[in-house]
Parts: sequence; structure tokens; C-alpha cells
Amino acid sequence: MLIDRYGREIRSLRASITKRCNLDCIYCHNDGQPLEGKEELSVEAMTKICRVFNRLGVKKMKISGGEPLIREDCVEMISSLIGFDEISMTTNGVFLAEKAQDLKEAGLDRINISIDTLKRDRYSKITRSSPNILSKVKEGLKEAVEADLTPVKINMVLLEINRDEIGDFVNYIRKNALQDKVVLQLIELIDLNGSFPNKVNTNEIEGFLMENAKLIGIRRTQNRRRYLYRGVEIETVKPVDNTAFCAACSRLRLTADGFLKPCLMRNDNLVKIKDGASEEEIERCIKEAVKRREPYYKGR
Ligand code: 5AD
Repeated sequence: MLIDRYGREIRSLRASITKRCNLDCIYCHNDGQPLEGKEELSVEAMTKICRVFNRLGVKKMKISGGEPLIREDCVEMISSLIGFDEISMTTNGVFLAEKAQDLKEAGLDRINISIDTLKRDRYSKITRSSPNILSKVKEGLKEAVEADLTPVKINMVLLEINRDEIGDFVNYIRKNALQDKVVLQLIELIDLNGSFPNKVNTNEIEGFLMENAKLIGIRRTQNRRRYLYRGVEIETVKPVDNTAFCAACSRLRLTADGFLKPCLMRNDNLVKIKDGASEEEIERCIKEAVKRREPYYKGR
């Protein structure tokens, strides 16, 4: 079992398999990865690293990007991961419709789809891409549910431009009878370089939910609140300045180019896994990265 100096057990690995993306979202932090370093770990290298994590007691695994489905071998990547209790993926959903079934068969359990808005013009503004893409994403959502990649979580980053759409999402989920399959996840914006002066106050949203929805749970991991609002499950994710979030963090990250990353918010403590490293060497790297783990937001 891997435990850091703050007593936090490492239970999940979040692996980026590419930094490339077909969209260009205005807020994207690229999973906190440095943008230099274009090479991508091969399926073999990736699965070897994951195997070591698995052996060290890490049983949850999330594949992210960039956009993971851009990689031709993403299905192969999933099928080569074994021994995990849960494998999930975060995708923008654009290429999901045609891949959902294959991903499920390869062993993917669950999926998160980034959908910040249901309006074409807003989608285009947020993703700096064609408004026509949104219909493909909706198709992807439908196919993901069809393929049983559930609960499908819709990742909605709260922005000034979409903050009025929570009700619309709830209506959309109800209209398509997805209440039992889909969770709406409201994510607080991490504004790394202060480019969003009108950041949505998530406490206001939380206040609204407290008044109008039923609180149905608080997750141990990251202290997330879960509500039921008009029959739809809504979960809030508030990492910013949240000491409880960091205190409960049980995650280690892997960048697409093979660096272990102890914290989303920092890049000054990465641990490079050398090309062709043996399992013993990988284990040493993992232990070093765990040693470097430190809550970003610390309480007193
Ligand atoms: N703030 C919050 N969440 C972000 N994501 C990406 N950039 C940010 C940011 N600046 C999350 C979103 C998206 C996923 C890929 O990463 O949830 O859906």
C-alpha cells in the first residue's frame, strides 16, 4: 500500500495518454501538464507502469488527455489494463459515439464527458471550435449510456457564460430519461492565470442546491456533495482553496510523456520514468513521487 507523509493513501492513478486535443477550451488546464514534451508513452510502457501501480495496491484508474480518444490505440490501451476495480475515462465526447461499445468491451467501466453547455453558439465559444460538434457530443453521450458506461458523468465547468444552464441540463437529462444513468457534475473553475475575473461563486450554486435539492451524500473522497434535484443527481466538485479536498486526495498522476505528477497544481516536483525502465525502477519512481506528495491547500 502506498501512503504519503500526510497519511494519505494512494488509491487511484490518473494517466494522461496524450496532450493532443481536437478542441481548444478557453479554460483548459491540460490536466496540469507542462506543454513541452510531445512524445507519448506506448501502450506497452503505459501498461507496464499501470501494472506496477496495481501491484502496489492502486485499484482505480482514470484515463485522460488531452483528448484520450484521439489516440488510435486507445481501445487497445484499455484492454491491456488488468487487475483494476474501476477503469474510467474523461473525454470531450466528440469521437465517443463510434467507440463507446468497443471501449466497454475492452474493459472500460465508466466515462466522464465534458459538456459545458447545450447551446451551439456557446459550445463554439467555449471550445473555440465549430458549433456543429455539439451534436456529435450529444450522440456520444447517448451511445455511452447505451454501452452501459454508467454512471456517465457530465463534466460541466461553471463559467459566467453557462451558469444559467444548470436547469437546462436537468431538463435535458429528464427529457431523454437519463436520470438513472447520468450524473451532472458541476466543477469549479481553476483559474490558473487569472483570466476569468467573473469566476462563478460556487457557494451561490451550492446555496441554491441546499435550498432546492435534497442532499443525498458527501463523498469521502474530496468531500464532494451529492444532491438530488428534480430527480437528477448533481455532484459538486470544489477544489479551489479547499483544504478538505487536498486532505482527502488519493490520486497520483502520470503525464502523457512519462512523468509521475504528485499534484495537479504543480510541475516543480515531477518524477521522470526513464524509457525502458524496469518494474523495479518504476516502483522506485512511484515511491519517490509519493514522497513528494503534499497538500496544495493546507489547513492550519
Ligand atoms: N478548471 C476546472 N476544471 C477543468 N478541467 C479542465 N480545465 C479545467 C479548469 N481550468 C476539467 C473539466 C474537463 C476535464 C477534462 O478537465 O472537468 O471536463
